Amino acid sequence: MSNVKFMSGENVPLEMHKVRMVQKVNLLPVEERLKCIEDAGFNTFLLNNRDIFMDMLTDSGVNAMSQEQYAAMMQADDSYAGSETFYRLEAVLKDIFGMEYFLPAHQGRACENIISQSLVKPGQVVVMNYHFTTSKAHITVNGGSVEEIIRDEGFKINSNDPFKGDIDIDKLKESIKRNGKENIAFVRVEAGTNLIGGQPVSMDNLREVSEICRNEGILLVYDGSLLGDNLYFIKIRDPKYRDIEIKRITREIAALTDVFYFSARKLGSARGGGILTSNKELYLKMRELITLYEGFLTYGGMSVREMEALAVGLEETMDFDVISQTPIMVEALCNELIASGVPVVTPPGGLGCHVDAMQFCSHIPQAQYPAGALTAALFIASGVRCMERGTLSEQRNEDGTERFADMELARIAFPRRVFTLSQVKYTADRLTWLYKNRELIGGLEFVDEPKMLRFFFGRLKAIGDWPQRLAEKFREDFGESL
Ligand SMILES: Cc1ncc(COP(=O)(O)O)c(C=O)c1O
Repeated sequence: MSNVKFMSGENVPLEMHKVRMVQKVNLLPVEERLKCIEDAGFNTFLLNNRDIFMDMLTDSGVNAMSQEQYAAMMQADDSYAGSETFYRLEAVLKDIFGMEYFLPAHQGRACENIISQSLVKPGQVVVMNYHFTTSKAHITVNGGSVEEIIRDEGFKINSNDPFKGDIDIDKLKESIKRNGKENIAFVRVEAGTNLIGGQPVSMDNLREVSEICRNEGILLVYDGSLLGDNLYFIKIRDPKYRDIEIKRITREIAALTDVFYFSARKLGSARGGGILTSNKELYLKMRELITLYEGFLTYGGMSVREMEALAVGLEETMDFDVISQTPIMVEALCNELIASGVPVVTPPGGLGCHVDAMQFCSHIPQAQYPAGALTAALFIASGVRCMERGTLSEQRNEDGTERFADMELARIAFPRRVFTLSQVKYTADRLTWLYKNRELIGGLEFVDEPKMLRFFFGRLKAIGDWPQRLAEKFREDFGESL
């Protein structure tokens, strides 16, 4: 938000844009919402959008685009090879990040596939602040393993630490000593730890990690999918950067890394992805895989229209008014929930509001997926679709036992510039009602469990008749209301 104070002293997340195109949404009666979540196997990924009131599943590929982005889409050059669109995007990337080479890819996980295939050898470890589902899957599929070295503070649900995404420097040094640098494929820093609260990484920490990696000759790979939020937090939480231009901070981040990749479904509010590096040898190695898996080098699986929108979207990411919109809405929802006693991750992060299902549903054992149950219950109570970020989002251990997640979170994501404050208040209201009736929520069990990335399309059923009882209580309390 720009520097606008309200006379009342209230901290209102003021929108710095106006809405000029809208999409009608439906709010079904609670009985129909119950039927929809049952039909979806209690997996919010399997709901149909027509049945959803507010889609807060993700911020990926569902952000509102600016009029400038739409206008840019009209000038796309769709040549298979040598497209002008590619050169326009490449020039913007070079200007913003200052890195030498750009490889386009169809989305973030495609970058992870290329990077992991190029860098991970069987038996090697990738050391990182925290994993993301697809990044871990690509590392393990290539025979590597993941070691997480986030500071202990990162695992605390409630904290005053402004940069809970930071790597623990002692753990990093210890890991290099124990594993031997030749067994570390690369160090990965994820801006805005997606799975544990969207928490940012500080510049001081990145600088220190980069220095260690350079001294040891270990590659530093930066996942910048959530860079926009991270830039906002650097600006407002690190006094040293308050008056530094966003573009300068971005350049500084890029200069500290060897490989920078991103999902353009998030960063730049379009649909696509990209890898940047100034390392020629690495670029040449990854380049071959782009043509094998993604497409020719001047589009890499992206639509040229999206590439044009991305070029503009990246430039807009350098605007504080643009990148502040999601974090201030997240903070507004978190504050409303905190005021009602609902347990959420603090400080509020980027990307979404993270509700702590371990406290919310403390009566549900982790083996019965409390965060999954909470996402299903929230849909029944409100028509709001959010995402489980807990044990369901983990892969089982090799021996088939559950790998319990470090946190059980229901992530209420904010597609950028999509929802209004009254919709945020509605979400807080229904979540508060749910919290008051939390004893009604029960566990879930799998009826169909895929081996890989099971949370995407696995199907579950409720243990007992709690969903029906929850819907009945809703009707009792809200009468005729939707
Ligand atoms: C931090 C992070 N890395 C990588 C990805 C993967 O990107 P995509 O969904 O475009 O494949 C995501 C997506 O949510 C993400 O949040």
